[in-house]
Parts: sequence; C-alpha cells; structure tokens
Amino acid sequence: MRPLSAKYDRLQEYPWEIRDALAEAELFGVWIPKEYGGHGGGVMDLCLVVEELSKACGGVGVLFAVNALGSFPILLAGTDEQKAKYLPPIAKGEKLIAFGLSERPAGSDAGGLVTNAHLDGDAWVVNGAKKWTTNGGAADVYSVFAVTDPDSKSRRISALILEKGDEGFEIGRAEDKMGIRCVPVVECHFDNCRIPEDRLLGGRAGLGFKHAMMTLDRARPGVAAQALGLAQGALDLATVYATQRRQFGQAISSFQMIQQLLADMATKVEAGRQLVYAAARACDAGVGNITKLAAMSKLYCTDMAMDVTTDAVQVFGGYGYMHDYPIEKYMRDAKITQIYEGTNQIQRMVVARNLIKEAGKLDHLEAFIPLPDHPNTLADQERAAAADAPASAGA
Ligand code: CAA
Repeated sequence: MRPLSAKYDRLQEYPWEIRDALAEAELFGVWIPKEYGGHGGGVMDLCLVVEELSKACGGVGVLFAVNALGSFPILLAGTDEQKAKYLPPIAKGEKLIAFGLSERPAGSDAGGLVTNAHLDGDAWVVNGAKKWTTNGGAADVYSVFAVTDPDSKSRRISALILEKGDEGFEIGRAEDKMGIRCVPVVECHFDNCRIPEDRLLGGRAGLGFKHAMMTLDRARPGVAAQALGLAQGALDLATVYATQRRQFGQAISSFQMIQQLLADMATKVEAGRQLVYAAARACDAGVGNITKLAAMSKLYCTDMAMDVTTDAVQVFGGYGYMHDYPIEKYMRDAKITQIYEGTNQIQRMVVARNLIKEAGKLDHLEAFIPLPDHPNTLADQERAAAADAPASAGA
C-alpha cells in the first residue's frame, strides 16, 4: 500500500489492486459474524485494521471502513434473508457497500432529508438524491435512507437496500477532493427508481433514523481509528526524519524544540488510542453510553490527528510542504475526519446532550451545591454536618 499511496492520491482513482490485496488477506470479514462468512469480530477488530491501514494511507483506511458503515444497518436491523444475501459477499470483499444518508439540504441535520420512497404495488419507488456517498460508484450495494411517512414525526424515515444497476439509480458527479483521494465520493440520483418490496431494511418502515444513528454510534470509532492511524503514521515519519535531518551540525532530533513537538505528538496519539479502544470495546460489549463514547473518540482523535499531522509537516520544514514528500498527504487526509460521519461540532453537541441527560444520576450532589435561590454555602454545610454529628464524636 505504501508505495502505491502517492500514485492513487495523484490519480484520484479507486485502487482495485489494494482492494484485491485486502480481500486476499480476508480483512473485509473482520466485523461480520462467522455465520455470514466473516471472522466474527466487532468494532474493536474493525478499528485495529483501520488504524493499521491508515498509518500508511488514510484514503485506504476509509475505503475499508466505509464498508462497515454501509453494512452496519443490515447487521443491526436486516432480516435473516437480507443478512444472508448481502453480508457474505461483503465479508469476502467481492462486493463493496456504501451508506447514503447525507443530502444537499440535509448534512448535519440528517433528519431533514427529503429523498422519498413510496410503495407502488410490490415495489418501492425512490426519488431524490444523496450527497457525499463515499465508495459510491465502486460499491455494489447501498444502504439508503428515505422519507416513507412524511406526516409522521418520529417514524418519517426508513432504510432501503439499493443495488448497482437498479432501474432509475444513477451515480452522479464525483467530487474532486483535498484528501482521501483514492476513494470516490459521489452523488447518487434516484429517478423513479423501482426496487422490490423486500429491500426495506428489516421489513419494517419508520425505523430508519434510529438505525442510522445506531449505525453512526458503531462507525464513529472507525473514523477515530482512521485519524489515530494517520496521526501515528505521521508521527513515525516525523520521528525518523528528525533523526536523519541535520542542521547546525547535528540531527534536528537533538534540539529540544523538536523533542517537545515529538513528545506532545506521541502523548496525544497514545491518549487517542486509549479512547478509541475504550469506545470500541464498549460498542462490542454493549455496555456504557456508547453514543457518548463513540462521539468522544471521534471528536478527540480527529482533532488530535489534525494537530499531529500539522506538527509533523512542521518537523519536515519546507520539504514537508511539498508533494514530493509523503507527509503533507497525512494533513490533507486528516482534515475530512473532522467533518464526515458528523462534524466535530455535532460530536460536541452529542456529548453535551448525553452529559446533561446523565446529570440526573448525579442528583445526590445537588445538596452540596449552593444555588442563588437556595443558598447552601460550604459554611452552611459544615454547620449542618456538625449539628448532625453524635455528641460523642467531638470527645
Ligand atoms: N441511537 C438510537 N436512537 C437515537 C440516537 C442514537 N444514537 N440518537 C438519536 N436517536 C433517536 C432519538 O431517540 C429520537 O427518537 P424518538 O423520535 O423516538 O424520540 C430520534 O432519534 C431523533 O433524535 P434527536 O431528536 O436527537 O435528533 P436531532 O435531529 O435533534 O439530532 C443528530 C440528531 C445527532 C444531530 C443527528 O442528526 C446527527 O448525528 N447528525 C450528523 C449526521 C451525520 O453524522 N452524518 C454523516 C453521514 S455519513 C458520512 O459522513 C458519509 C460517509 O460516507 C463517510
């Protein structure tokens, strides 16, 4: 992958030879249960592979991870027949999958999507367009979210499974991107696209938004792992460069200012790693507030990767700014991780909402917090504690 990474970055083409190598190494099956041809791992296994790939190429990291994003809805909510049909070829890397949620009018406000579907006899008819579909065009299968009940408040949206070649389904414009250039990001257009009735995810309408959110809870640690790998990869290159590059008659790694940069980068990378692994383990075990942990891991690691890859370019100096050197690509690849699968502003909102929701569990602290209309100062609390204490306590 490493020697091919610059070529595909320049060409902005899907690296089928890398897909073949990943399939041959049986990596596409890590998050898919054994009964559907996978290795039976989970989010943790996914993150370990994504981290490792992203050390060499952030584009390949997402090219791989996006298949988990696309297949999680089927894994979480698909019928047995849907799982049996779609998961085995994905586990083998024979088929690729994409996730269609975002639209021109609905990015951060995912619930505001307008692509719609209605039943016509025994077929769903889909109309609308998706934006930012990563893997689009290369993918054979698409998990697509559409409005099926416009009048409902909480059951407006359903998930449908679309296939390349479905009548009325066209791949539109491919984006010209700053980073992750080896993986296509396209628009998808649905013009009276007719699909069989049994392509409704889980056979139940109205649960699409919930399933999209549950999917993102499990996929965001994967973005965090991509960012983590990018940061580790950039740190490794910067460290080696610093030991080789000589100025003022010595390796620049002997200068304390470079050492400080490297030490801070390494500390942030390690902190990010622990948070990603904690979030991934929580997802797999189904314990804790996985929504909050997944958002925290995505938020921290992607901001961290932007800092670390920028500092890595700094260590390389003027050379680092040039396309001829491998480091600037890390910075370009890192930027999108702060934006996709929920901007970091949305992650902060998700974390804060969950913190505030959990504050109810901390109500035993209320008695100790002075409020303007119920003053209960520390001195009041001490007096109350002394009055409550048994008389013998003082003696
Ligand atoms: N798990 C399960 N259910 C959830 C949930 C979760 N994590 N989060 C919300 N829900 C449910 C709520 O319980 C609620 O259900 P009810 O109606 O039954 O009460 C419903 O979903 C609506 O929830 P909210 O009121 O919280 O929804 P909201 O509209 O206020 O905000 C949001 C939700 C968190 C902002 C959400 O819109 C969001 O995550 N936005 C970012 C979208 C995003 O990440 N897009 C990335 C797409 S993928 C991509 O980037 C492309 C790619 O290919 C890589």
